[in-house]
Amino acid sequence: MTISLTVNGVAYQIDDSRADDKLVDFLHEDLNLTGTKFCCGIGVCRACTVQVSKPPNPATTPMISCSTALGILDGSVVSTIESVAQDGVLDEVQQAFLDNFSFQCGYCTPGFVMASRMFLDDLRAQPVPADQLEDAMMAAIGSHICRCTGYVRYFEALRPLAEAANTGQEGQR
Ligand code: FES
Ligand code: FES
Repeated sequence: MTISLTVNGVAYQIDDSRADDKLVDFLHEDLNLTGTKFCCGIGVCRACTVQVSKPPNPATTPMISCSTALGILDGSVVSTIESVAQDGVLDEVQQAFLDNFSFQCGYCTPGFVMASRMFLDDLRAQPVPADQLEDAMMAAIGSHICRCTGYVRYFEALRPLAEAANTGQEGQR
């Protein structure tokens, strides 16, 4: 028996003797995808967040890879921070975090990027009333822990993108 898993567009078959192995270890040790960060290791800080979907359901979920066993991911599609920039060009979230000096050491940043991207996709698919946008942003990234900064600049960077996504006015940063 094997576990079928697609990571950043590449399909893998993993022996199910590894069902209890954590996703973050598979990413680091087997695939050398070290952009996903391991920090607390107990499901608290969200530094290790990746994007997961389970076709045919197109919905994506932020998943904490330090606490997710391979065994429950059979048939899943995983996207990591390495899949975000295209041909060396940062995506809108990465660029906004950079432009706003949102991070210092950057260890928490991949998790913030992945969660923010899924949040923007959710807004595009299902906008929220304007007066609920701040709460929605808090729900999306408010539980991510950053040990260096005051969080404010992550929110300042994401806010214009969220407003644009929420009103269908893309590209207004
Ligand atoms: S390292 Fe996964 S939640 Fe902290
Ligand atoms: S920038 Fe260092 S932990 Fe967030």
